[in-house]
Amino acid sequence: MKKSKLMPIIILVLVVVLAGAYFVGSKGNKSSEESTDQSSANGKIPKVGVLQYVSHPALDEIYRGIKAGLKKSGYEDGKTVDIELLNGQADQSKLATMSQQLISDDSDVLIVIATPAAQALANETKSVPIVLGAITDPVSAGLVKSNKKPGGNITGVSDKSPVAAQMDLATKILPDAKKMGILYSSAEDNSDYQAKQVKKAAEEKGLTVALYAVPSANEITQMVQVMANEVDFIYIPTDNTIANAMQTVVEVANKTNTPIIPSVDTMVEQGGLATVGINQYKLGVKTGQMTADILKGKSKPATTPVYTFDSGDVIVNEKQAEKLGITIPEDVLKEAKIVGE
Ligand code: TRP
Repeated sequence: MKKSKLMPIIILVLVVVLAGAYFVGSKGNKSSEESTDQSSANGKIPKVGVLQYVSHPALDEIYRGIKAGLKKSGYEDGKTVDIELLNGQADQSKLATMSQQLISDDSDVLIVIATPAAQALANETKSVPIVLGAITDPVSAGLVKSNKKPGGNITGVSDKSPVAAQMDLATKILPDAKKMGILYSSAEDNSDYQAKQVKKAAEEKGLTVALYAVPSANEITQMVQVMANEVDFIYIPTDNTIANAMQTVVEVANKTNTPIIPSVDTMVEQGGLATVGINQYKLGVKTGQMTADILKGKSKPATTPVYTFDSGDVIVNEKQAEKLGITIPEDVLKEAKIVGE
């Protein structure tokens, strides 16, 4: 009798002790990484808001890379992360409203593609983490205090061009060229910075340099016509306004056989002659991975240095070279990725 009365109590005590041990154990097993995971804290999948400045092949490629980088790090769109992409179509007032929308949608982390989008979004929040996707120079754009120690809610990836290598290549391919013209938009801080950098690099190579800044996309055709008469070749920085109108630029420049040395692979594919450029997709992948680290609580923007790619790949558009009657030296071709065959 005594035994059978005690049994249920003993079993109950055992169950409680075991359940308690299991609970504590499972909590203890969680790594510190998971415990600060912004997503699992409330049981929802995390939300990433993306603001893209405009559509052109380079920025679209960066976005594709961002999604791949996030997926590689465990965040697959629609399954383990909710990605919301808004495209400002180069319209300042749209960028401002879209920034507000992304913030009111409670994004856990925000991503910006291109400088004007970054500046619009940075204006709206000092607390939600922002990851920069391919921003030429975050410091001169007023986004971070320094690339090493950003200090605020912003970090990310810079696509600063390897301008010295680009000028090496330009002078190798166009040995008779004396004057280079830089075509860019005066409204983009990223281009203003790069124009200054490449001017210095070109002058060190013995070239004369002139700046041709357009106030908007409307003046591009006329400006390229002027340049075609005044320069031996056209250089284009990572300028969104020009990248968006690349087809027009190539058409106009081709009329006078004026070569174009752009700053990225995608612009060579669009009809530029050649460059040493950073792979746009890879820029996106890195941006996605940095975003994942912030989502996991592994890093914080204030103390995460801006990542800079310091080398690029040589890329040559063979069809353009033929059209312009330019023979690309063998040693350049050997290491180059060839497009437009
Ligand atoms: N670096 C540009 C910016 O800061 C964005 C950009 C990335 C870009 N890749 C490009 C612009 C290629 C033109 C072409 O805004």
